[in-house]
Amino acid sequence: MIRSHAIAGGITLSSRLHSVKMSPSTDFAEFKRLLEPRADGKPNKIIAVCGAGLSAASGIPTFRGAGGMWHKYDAMSLATPEAFERDPLLVWQFYHYRRETARAAQPNPAHKALALFSLSTTRKASAPNSEFAIITQNVDELSKRALATTLEQHPTKAKDIAPLLEMHGRIFDIQCSKCGHVETKVGRSQVSNIQSLPRCLKCSALARPGVVWFGEMPQHLDEIDQLVQGANLCLVVGTSSTVYPAASYASKVQRQGGKVAVFNLDRSSGDMSADFLFLGPCEETLPKALGLEREVVRVE
Ligand code: OAD
Repeated sequence: MIRSHAIAGGITLSSRLHSVKMSPSTDFAEFKRLLEPRADGKPNKIIAVCGAGLSAASGIPTFRGAGGMWHKYDAMSLATPEAFERDPLLVWQFYHYRRETARAAQPNPAHKALALFSLSTTRKASAPNSEFAIITQNVDELSKRALATTLEQHPTKAKDIAPLLEMHGRIFDIQCSKCGHVETKVGRSQVSNIQSLPRCLKCSALARPGVVWFGEMPQHLDEIDQLVQGANLCLVVGTSSTVYPAASYASKVQRQGGKVAVFNLDRSSGDMSADFLFLGPCEETLPKALGLEREVVRVE
């Protein structure tokens, strides 16, 4: 179930801060040494846990902070099943706006770096003998589009492509509010009045955006739990780390002896517990940390 810990989470945050021994490193060269092959011959198992900041440079507003308002509404107050029940037209209008923004957006260098890092063929130069997976809270499909473009330039076998898990669903899907039937890649819908809202192709009931809302179960949780359990390096990219379960993955990796590197424009929850903290736009810091600065420029 998705939980936000905005204020109550301070308790969690402070308990994590007490266990801090040293400030996180900001040294890129030191970070890159984590990507080198391990002495025991086992692969480095790396996960990236991503949030709205990953897509900020593509022009998609984040949820908290300056980008978090739509008209007079707080974006999070519209991301609940209760809001949809109360006012489906308003919720659809909000998602229609985010959908059209996502449709017009292009992946930025941070998406491209993650896409290049997702192919074992292009990852091996900076992280030989490693496995990788992207766990994203974003619903905009920009990571998927970056991966598709990268694959056109670097065709490879399916087994050499890292998993990409969109745990909060996809904004271009629609899901029936009654029978749960999902349609993918739905075209533009009119959302000017209640009669024009999308309906289920199977049972004709009102359809809703195919995203996971607060109080609902995120997708792919079994697969994600396995990846988190096996990981020895967690990259936390552009997320405020206030929404669970995604916010718990970095500390889980750390508890099992792994390292955490945070890439965020600003301070974020629990970042002082990280081993590395790269403050700045992730579209700059992430390609640099992954040794892919030159390559992202070539992926168009
Ligand atoms: P938030 O809006 O909470 O946080 C976005 C984070 O991105 C903030 O910490 C910003 O500092 C950071 N940021 C902004 N621009 C950046 C940049 N260029 N480079 C690096 N960092 C940048 O978004 P999420 O953490 O993704 O869920 O929020 C998690 C979930 O809460 C969302 O999936 C959504 C939301 O309500 C649902 O709708 C269920």
